[in-house]
Amino acid sequence: MSEVISIANQKGGVGKTTTAVNLAASLAENGKKVLLLDIDPQSNATTSLGFSRADYEFNIYHVLIGSKKISEVTLKTKVKGLHLVPSNIGLVGIEKEFYNPRRRNRELILKEKINEISLRYDFVIIDSPPALGPITINALSASDSVIIPIQCEFFALEGLAQLLNTVSLLKKTINPKLKIKGFLPTMYSSQNNLSKQVLADLSHHFKDKLFHLKKAKECIVVPRNVKIAESPSFGKPVTEYASASKGSVAYRDLATVIIGS
Ligand SMILES: Nc1ncnc2c1ncn2[C@@H]1O[C@H](COP(=O)(O)OP(=O)(O)OP(=O)(O)O)[C@@H](O)[C@H]1O
Ligand SMILES: [Mg+2]
Repeated sequence: MSEVISIANQKGGVGKTTTAVNLAASLAENGKKVLLLDIDPQSNATTSLGFSRADYEFNIYHVLIGSKKISEVTLKTKVKGLHLVPSNIGLVGIEKEFYNPRRRNRELILKEKINEISLRYDFVIIDSPPALGPITINALSASDSVIIPIQCEFFALEGLAQLLNTVSLLKKTINPKLKIKGFLPTMYSSQNNLSKQVLADLSHHFKDKLFHLKKAKECIVVPRNVKIAESPSFGKPVTEYASASKGSVAYRDLATVIIGS
């Protein structure tokens, strides 16, 4: 059975897609079979891996409405071992389906679909949209755990209580196994006092939920790194675009911790 991990935070632009793409690629680099599932209508994960609309006819929307099987929309990426379920702006139409009161188990639609392919992959990584609406609820309901990227900027922890409440509510109701895998500080600048303050706040409140390589004193932080920002425009994960960059090292370290946990 695959381990299903959502990357979620309803705040926009905190590094969810970057984390989903690069963690998925780093896990695949380690020989794992990985499915990256793009469930954001912005479809940034799909674009980051070099796919444009002309490259695929069907996407996660067709899976969720039941007209295609997940295996029928899955694309092979250029990264060995990494497959992608693409998304598309048309996914916004799914909200209607999710809110249909006659639809039973609306929160579990995605989970049912993932169950179909769960024996084929070691990991399923889900890139969710910047909202706590039904799409993200479906992602969390289908997941064993969630990684929460936290941008090391002002307002970083704003809205976090709401996300944590949602996770604990889902845990008490439809997904008892859901865990917080950890918080990942992103876009960290060592020159910036604000970055240091956010990291200090995170360490203070969630010390046990930061990612650590074995024996390392410092937790894993993703630095603000120009190679990370450039790589999507080349359709590649940073681990392939700039393999030795600090950004690659951080995401590889994260994959090492995830594989070992
Ligand atoms: N560590 C980093 N260093 C430099 N740029 C970064 C880093 N992480 C992310 N970025 C850039 O910041 C922007 C936002 O990142 P990303 O798209 O991953 O956030 P997101 O949380 O998925 O956004 P959304 O909420 O819109 O889905 C992107 O342009 C991305 O390339
Ligand atoms: Mg995104």
